[in-house]
Amino acid sequence: MSETIENLFQEERSFPPPEKLARSANAQPEIYESAAADPHAFWVEEAQKLSWKSPWKQVLDDSEAPIYRWFVGGKLNVTESCLDRHVETTPDRIAFHWEGEPGDSKSLTYAQLLAEVCRTSNALKELGVTKGDTVAIYMGMVPEIIVAMLACARIGAAHSVVFGGFSAESLRERIDDASCTAVITQDGSWRRGHVVELKKNVDDSLVGQQTVKHVLVLKRCENEVDWHQGRDHWWHDVVPQQSDQCDAEEMDAEDLLYILYTSGSTGKPKGIVHTCGGYMTGVSATFRYVFDIKDDDLYWCTADCGWVTGHSYIVYGPLANGATSLIYEGTPDHPEQDRWWKLIEKYSVTILYTAPTAIRTFMKWGEQLPVACDLSSLRLLGSVGEPINPEAWMWYHEYIGGKRCPIVDTWWQTETGCIMITPLPGVTTTRPGSACTPFPGIDAMVIDNEGNEVERGHGGLLVISSPWPSMLRGIYRDPERYKEVYWSQFDGLYFPGDGCKIDDDGYLWLLGRVDDVMLVSGHNISTTEVENALVDHEGVAEAAVVGRSDERTGQAIAAFVVLRADVVGHDDLIVELRKHVAKKIGPIAKPSSIVFTPDLPKTRSGKIMRRLLKDISEQRKLGDVTTLANADIVEAIRSGSSSGQDADE
Ligand code: WT7
Repeated sequence: MSETIENLFQEERSFPPPEKLARSANAQPEIYESAAADPHAFWVEEAQKLSWKSPWKQVLDDSEAPIYRWFVGGKLNVTESCLDRHVETTPDRIAFHWEGEPGDSKSLTYAQLLAEVCRTSNALKELGVTKGDTVAIYMGMVPEIIVAMLACARIGAAHSVVFGGFSAESLRERIDDASCTAVITQDGSWRRGHVVELKKNVDDSLVGQQTVKHVLVLKRCENEVDWHQGRDHWWHDVVPQQSDQCDAEEMDAEDLLYILYTSGSTGKPKGIVHTCGGYMTGVSATFRYVFDIKDDDLYWCTADCGWVTGHSYIVYGPLANGATSLIYEGTPDHPEQDRWWKLIEKYSVTILYTAPTAIRTFMKWGEQLPVACDLSSLRLLGSVGEPINPEAWMWYHEYIGGKRCPIVDTWWQTETGCIMITPLPGVTTTRPGSACTPFPGIDAMVIDNEGNEVERGHGGLLVISSPWPSMLRGIYRDPERYKEVYWSQFDGLYFPGDGCKIDDDGYLWLLGRVDDVMLVSGHNISTTEVENALVDHEGVAEAAVVGRSDERTGQAIAAFVVLRADVVGHDDLIVELRKHVAKKIGPIAKPSSIVFTPDLPKTRSGKIMRRLLKDISEQRKLGDVTTLANADIVEAIRSGSSSGQDADE
């Protein structure tokens, strides 16, 4: 019988935590043992670090599994944990330094942030928004997007943030699905020096729409907008004159905090539901231990609030911990490709949390850019969103972290709410490419197709074997789909849909989505491992592989490769790359074709769209590409791959 997923790539390098960091780290080694001994006691202790209005009566109700309820009967308002309690002790602490893309900037203290949240809450109430409503937020990365989210939470309205890069049609679909009663947006948003017309998209999305009564519009770019009298309200007309006091609505631990639609590369987007008490417990605890946050840290998560990373690790996790963060409005290449490094230098950022897609882009642009800036303030780096190739990890370690910063490769999902598999920076000896081990209080295993736990040294499917506080509470208005997607494969186990291998020491190595696994001559080969082997070559910045149907082998591996700056693609390099993969992970994994391309098709959140590359390599008609961040690259790749670079020997 063939392995569920082969274990091919071996990584020998390892990095123990720096001693100084380890000594004073928020997480000490005992945390694993004590959490394992009594996971509920661990989560209870973390929940108690939040502000509650009244205590819970039961930690976990699993009587209706897979619908789980945490901290049953507890009452709280998450904004009190994020704002009020810090305003009591440290009102002048900076919550956010914000830098706009054009170079304007401002800073908000905790006291100022609370006041602005209260004013906005009062404005929303005046517009008739009440507890139980859902508000769509369609904005760019301005401080007001955070204010808007928290203002909803303060009055007990759920927010549904829709990424500002989505089309009017995607926005409409999400507004309809959640029956939103209001939309918060901007006239426009800056992106690479151009205005993205957010208000116009909102107007288009609301044609004939019934549930939305009010649109609150922040002026940012001063672009011209159409106005719908009675429905539209300028932020500056309705927010500033409000009182800066607003009582926080009492919420049940299990009341809806937000809905967030997963980008979902196929099918209708899923409205992932998160509630108040458990979600806050999970994000607050993970933020404290994984990012080792200290009073003098300046933390920067480069995500957008349109994704769960922004919800959990820009807004709720950092604010629950009273952290000081940087937020940046624009793209990394505006006005030049060194904008991020300039920002780190300017603000003395100490903790940077970003995505492999960004790191690989910087590899492509070259290390001369970060090397020219002073990045010595950094002490900790994080990665999230995709498997990080060991070579990208090493590049991040060397050129961004100056070889002194631990890297936390954090595996989680919109659905999990918080980080699930990760090193702890003062405890774990890291290995490039491995997300290491489950966070304390989290149970994960790797199993085969039959549901049996695989032995160490083998690959299979990742599952989470016990409920955790910040888990999704369902798919909005679709309980059947919730059960079907996550709980129908293996009895009592949450199935995230990712391949994974476990090494001899119990470290976990994520292998990409199970749907992407390639079946070559009877071997199940993960895309991640072949991509890692390609990126391991010094000329390669980024690679994507897919299984193309093949008469002889079932599937053959088709590779798409982005080279580093100054490296030229030619036939000899194709031969060399195939040899490199064979040497690194074995001849079975040698790509049968390699195409050089300036970029790879990516989702708006930066994930490689392998499905589309598969369509290209099987010369199928392409489906909808409008959800791509870089749709024009598809044509370029298509013309490149039809020129025939098949290199089968
Ligand atoms: C999927 C979830 C989690 C916030 C951003 C993405 C992949 C995420 C890692 C990682 C390997 C990762 C998985 C997961 N993923 N982090 N560190 N290593 N893969 O949230 O859009 O819900 O995507 O992203 O495939 O299932 P999302």
